[in-house]
Amino acid sequence: MHHFEYHDGRLCAEGVDIGAIVEAVGTPVYIYSSATIERHFEVFRALLGPKAHVFYAMKANANLGVLATLARLGAGADVVSEGEIRKAMAAGVPAERIVFSGVGKTEAELAHAVGVGVYQINIESEGELEALSRVASRLGKTQNAVFRVNPDIGAGGHAKITTGSSANKFGVSFDEATRLYARGSNLPGVRIVGLAVHIGSQILAFEGMAEAFRKMRGLVETLRGEGHRVERLDLGGGVGVPYEIPVPFVQGPDAIERYAAMVHAVMDGLDIELGFEPGRVIVANAGILVTRALYINQRADRQFLIVDAAMNDLVRPAMYEAYHEIWPVNEPAPDAPRIAYDVVGPVCESGDTFTTGRQLPEVRPGDLIAFQSAGAYGATMSSTYNLRPLVAEVLVRGKAFSVTRPRQTYEELIGLDRLPDWLA
Ligand code: LLP
Repeated sequence: MHHFEYHDGRLCAEGVDIGAIVEAVGTPVYIYSSATIERHFEVFRALLGPKAHVFYAMKANANLGVLATLARLGAGADVVSEGEIRKAMAAGVPAERIVFSGVGKTEAELAHAVGVGVYQINIESEGELEALSRVASRLGKTQNAVFRVNPDIGAGGHAKITTGSSANKFGVSFDEATRLYARGSNLPGVRIVGLAVHIGSQILAFEGMAEAFRKMRGLVETLRGEGHRVERLDLGGGVGVPYEIPVPFVQGPDAIERYAAMVHAVMDGLDIELGFEPGRVIVANAGILVTRALYINQRADRQFLIVDAAMNDLVRPAMYEAYHEIWPVNEPAPDAPRIAYDVVGPVCESGDTFTTGRQLPEVRPGDLIAFQSAGAYGATMSSTYNLRPLVAEVLVRGKAFSVTRPRQTYEELIGLDRLPDWLA
């Protein structure tokens, strides 16, 4: 469900004409819909139950306006760096609704998190347990923490986003969890309050996740049997979205609905505080990347459609062979003939390809097209490769829009560098 639709032949975000935004800020531009973000968050929270703690995984989209929209609804934040802690708090997420995950938190980052008093730190290794104990003790604090456990069950839309297999770097091994739980319970500076798991991303078939969650439930019961306090179980994120319509391999109700039913079935009767870290499912379909067609390069066997966005702006196709729907901003006639295009950006490598052989209504130089479902892992994964400025980001609400991140200026782009003394 999203709020990007054609009205009078023009693609709109809620009540705003995409063309009007482009006129004001140019291209490429990310455009986000508040109504879609709010709806996804509300549906997620409602289906997972009133007691669920929802920590939005801000790695998916860390735009200040997006974060503030979610913060207003009472969302927490799942963060993976000090930068994310700082930005979540700047957007109005209080520290007591922040969960800090990640395999490589530095002592400085741990100290910052403990200092501001985050709700929970998800410990991923024995070394990190020791570091947290040291850092918190030094600060005279006791930090609530859980162990992220690797259940050795991976799942996900692509090998690079599968995290739950024992071959992946994430979490403490399932077999070590009981020993570490006992050890953590005896260390100063930390209060071990539960467990966490996250097995992968872009998941639409939930059998593997259900198996992992059953394993985690078993571990909760084992630990409790040994006399440990296990108050929290953080089930991570991972719920996928329909990038391709129709979704190729999954039928039936919306993914959030099927996921929630699975969670309730697996956790039925277990008295525990459940936490969730959804990212993609909240924001993916709430964002588009609008780009302008620059040139058509006609070859004997193919047509390259060269646009002004590139892999540095949206890396998912280059990095994960990801599929994004492409919609012309001017609504095509339903019977408009289709042409096969290889849609590519200006970056100087062949990997800068959004799609090959995509059937689209004719696109002419100057036309605007929109990559759909670009709200998650789009802007947050962008870079300035080829010294291309970071693109503008716009948040829409009803008939209003606001540039929540202006396009990076050339001064900002090149002004950080310094000449060494010997060349000055
Ligand atoms: N929690 C943890 C510990 C995670 O590692 C992740 C994502 C999430 C929550 C949120 O997962 P989500 O609900 O968004 O699936 N860049 C890739 C996706 C990487 C996901 C990394 N971890 C992509 O563009 O597909």
